[in-house]
Amino acid sequence: MAEKKKRDHFGSKIGIIAAAVGSAVGLGNIYRFPCMAGENGGGAFLIVYLGIVLALGLPMIASEFMIGRRAQKNPVGAFKALASGAKGWSIIGYTGVLCGFLILAFYTTVAGWTLESVYKSVINYYHGKDLATIEQGFNDSINLTFRPLLWQAVFIFISAFVIAKGISKGIEKYSKILMPTLTVILIILCVKSLMLPGAFEGLKFLFKPDFSKINDQVLISALGQAFFSMSLGMGALITYGSYISKEDNLVTTSLTVGLSDTFVAILAGIIIFPAAFSFGIQPEAGPSLAFNTLPMLFNQMKGGYLFCLLFFILLVIAAWTSALSLLEVIVSYLIEELKLSRRKATIYSSAGAFIISILAALSLHNDSSLTIFGLTIFDGLDKITSMVMMTLGGLFTVIFLGWKVKRQDFENEFTNGGTVNMRLRKIFYYIIKFIAPAAIAVIMVSQFII
Ligand code: TRP
Repeated sequence: MAEKKKRDHFGSKIGIIAAAVGSAVGLGNIYRFPCMAGENGGGAFLIVYLGIVLALGLPMIASEFMIGRRAQKNPVGAFKALASGAKGWSIIGYTGVLCGFLILAFYTTVAGWTLESVYKSVINYYHGKDLATIEQGFNDSINLTFRPLLWQAVFIFISAFVIAKGISKGIEKYSKILMPTLTVILIILCVKSLMLPGAFEGLKFLFKPDFSKINDQVLISALGQAFFSMSLGMGALITYGSYISKEDNLVTTSLTVGLSDTFVAILAGIIIFPAAFSFGIQPEAGPSLAFNTLPMLFNQMKGGYLFCLLFFILLVIAAWTSALSLLEVIVSYLIEELKLSRRKATIYSSAGAFIISILAALSLHNDSSLTIFGLTIFDGLDKITSMVMMTLGGLFTVIFLGWKVKRQDFENEFTNGGTVNMRLRKIFYYIIKFIAPAAIAVIMVSQFII
């Protein structure tokens, strides 16, 4: 397929990894993973989660990269190009673009809280306060109207700023600085949390599985979390894959991305649960886990002011590099399919996402009537995207790759034209063709039957 315009590409292997890990590692790891593990029995959830990552997550990361790199296009264009004339497959791409808006909406809301928390750290708001006061303060800020929206606007703005610069000078350049910073901060915090009295109880909660707690709810939550955390099922990695050069080894890249993502989620658990148990916060406490537990940890630490500030800056960074991939899905679609300039595409998509995020934020007010299916718009968007849209998107993506893309093309892409991973290619093919679709379908159907 001849290229009309020269496409922007990632400049180096490190750049790809930084950007893709940046997409994967986000609020999903540091905020959502502990919430989900807390609500679903800790160790039981972790075991199921790890199983899903290894069996499904890693192959699916590679699948999305392969589709993107093969087609050299945004998700809508990619399904069109590879479907060899068959109509309908591009719906997966369109759903992905829509999903991007919906995820961005609640993602931006939470990202707004992280900016609010950075602000609170700077003014030393947490100092000397007890947990009840900090929690009250958190709820009060969510219930404000103007302030959360201001933070959301700031967050969308910094994301749009990077996206407007493109791939190598934007996403890649920023991720290469931001991701290592994030890793260093996480490791320091991990050590600090483990030194708390009572830390062991938290570790037991996270690592000791109680198998009787595994049920369909845990399964579907873990599947949704795995998809969310690894940025699967909506075309983000298809889009990034389209910027990966033909010489890069997709298998090692996928493994690095998936395993780093999982490592960070576990690190976040090791930071948060010991602290939560040590301060008597319930593991089911939801947003409170990340946003209120940790300031308590910092309050007791020497240099707590600095660590608190560092932690919330870390959350902003994690959210930022993830939001880039969500926005880029929409932007690449607008540029390539609707022929907008990058600048215009960035402005329209970030404005659109901001508007939906206003609804998500306002729906969290105590007296709000903004609900869907009996949930707040915020929770509704989270559930619909992770449990329905992304899982269905992932299901059809593997079906597409396994059954629709020519076997020859599949193997060429997987092995870089027969130069690498020759031995793995068969196993991988059968996983994608049979095992992955069956497993996702069974988990999805089980939640309706039981
Ligand atoms: N993976 C990110 C996180 O864990 C969120 C995210 C970024 C995402 N891009 C995505 C989720 C695409 C689903 C699809 O926070």
